[in-house]
Amino acid sequence: MKKFRRIGILTSGGDAPGMNPCYRAITRCILAGGAQAMGIRRGYKGLIDNDMKLLGDRDVSNIINIGGTALYSDRCKEFTTEEGMQKAIETCRENQIDGIIALGGDGTFRGARDLTDRGIPCIGIPCTIDNDISSTEYTIGFDTALNTVVQMVDRLRDTCESHARCDVVEVMGNGAGYLALYAGVSVGATAIITKEIPFDEERLMEKIIASKRAQKRNFIVVVSENMGKGFTEAIAPKIEAVTGVETRYARLAHVQRGGSPTHRDRMTATLMAHKAVELLYEGKSNLVICEHNGVIDSMDISFALDFDKFYKGKLTTEELDAMPADVRAQMQAMSDRRLSSFLDIYKINDIVSN
Ligand code: F6P
Repeated sequence: MKKFRRIGILTSGGDAPGMNPCYRAITRCILAGGAQAMGIRRGYKGLIDNDMKLLGDRDVSNIINIGGTALYSDRCKEFTTEEGMQKAIETCRENQIDGIIALGGDGTFRGARDLTDRGIPCIGIPCTIDNDISSTEYTIGFDTALNTVVQMVDRLRDTCESHARCDVVEVMGNGAGYLALYAGVSVGATAIITKEIPFDEERLMEKIIASKRAQKRNFIVVVSENMGKGFTEAIAPKIEAVTGVETRYARLAHVQRGGSPTHRDRMTATLMAHKAVELLYEGKSNLVICEHNGVIDSMDISFALDFDKFYKGKLTTEELDAMPADVRAQMQAMSDRRLSSFLDIYKINDIVSN
């Protein structure tokens, strides 16, 4: 078991409901293991600026039910430079921080990997409403955001039904269509449009026309922000022109990021927090905590970051060629599994929606 004096905790990148229960559980697990817990404010920016405080048990009371992050967050460009990184390491030394647990997405994990490489062992915990971190099946915040989207869209459906209208609703998701897919299924969307599935405009129009003929009055089309800027605004008037169904559009935006975390997010946050502290105390680092088939486990951060790029088609031909054949085959299999479960859900919605 590795001896730690002080373990830092930070939240970085976009906030997500569930960061607070995670922060709470990390703090208490660190204290239970005998080290001190240091709350670093404003993510990596606070690490550079020396903005932190030692935490007692009570400092994390009454936040389990609060959205956002009590540690505050930032997207810190300076930290991506060697100079910024060195300042952060200097702050760690000054404050006797000899390990860090970093909550966030891929950018946060890149920072954690770079710090680990320079002698500060780190572990990352996936927190984002987008569920777009390829190394894990679940990211903290996803369920809360989904429930918010479902509530909002149910309201839109009420008014669509009264007026026989269509509403095109754009949801977040960053580069991934998970929020759109899962919310779309749960609101009974006539169509779900995400970049993962080739968009068939003609089929969308035919489906709406056929359902209208069959006396359907409300139409919800869920669009992922991964379709790109302007897509939602452009498709709404087209639907109206082609189908004759009066159409509005709505972008739910940051309302999706707030709110009290759901049971699922509080539970996963607590279990992932416990796992992260346990692994750090065992002397393990450079890991990202993941969920696979309902089990909390971990993956090497560098592998997780490479896999994310692999899955999203962001690796260059040279990078792919340089990859050992067995690693490439492993990533291909993981990638196929991830995409096929996405496609399966999409197909089911196509059957059950009209
Ligand atoms: O990663 C979460 C997310 O909400 C994305 O879905 C969205 O694209 C982005 O953050 C918006 O970030 P911000 O407005 O905070 O820069």
